Amino acid sequence: MTITQEHTRPGRAGPSTVRPVLGALGLLDLLADYVAETATVLPVAPANLTTRHYELLERSDHVEIWAIHWPQGQGLELHDHGGSVGALWVVNGSLEEHYVQVGRAVGRRSIVAGGGAAFGPRYVHDVVNVGADPVTSVHAYSPPMESMNFYRQEVGGLVLDRTEYRVDPSWAP
Ligand SMILES: [Fe+2]
Repeated sequence: MTITQEHTRPGRAGPSTVRPVLGALGLLDLLADYVAETATVLPVAPANLTTRHYELLERSDHVEIWAIHWPQGQGLELHDHGGSVGALWVVNGSLEEHYVQVGRAVGRRSIVAGGGAAFGPRYVHDVVNVGADPVTSVHAYSPPMESMNFYRQEVGGLVLDRTEYRVDPSWAP
């Protein structure tokens, strides 16, 4: 699947420096189509996976798509997506997601193979593989992320722990 302008819409009228950005649900539709069309060539998690592993599959000015492989018991701590909207699709197994709701504690949901979720630009979540086998998921972000903020949860709410920038050697979604 080639990512083209037809999948994008203008974020708002304004200077040409404003990049078109997909909405969260449009991004999830794009991601579902992408996974369906690339199912036979999508990378899969090796059975002996021991550390979280990721692969950049597509990138345009408007969208990037990653495959992420999750070993048993591993996840990514609470984070946002630097203002990008996002979507994820679980290819095999299931992932557990904890997400922060405004004025409330952390919510939880399970996203199982063949299903996905979408989220807006201020969404904060963590994701973990609580199953017995490695899991592969595919993630889309629009526009491509430039940074991610990581948080810790304290009694008074979320506290910013650190920001990681795409230029950092260790950066990954
Ligand atoms: Fe995320």
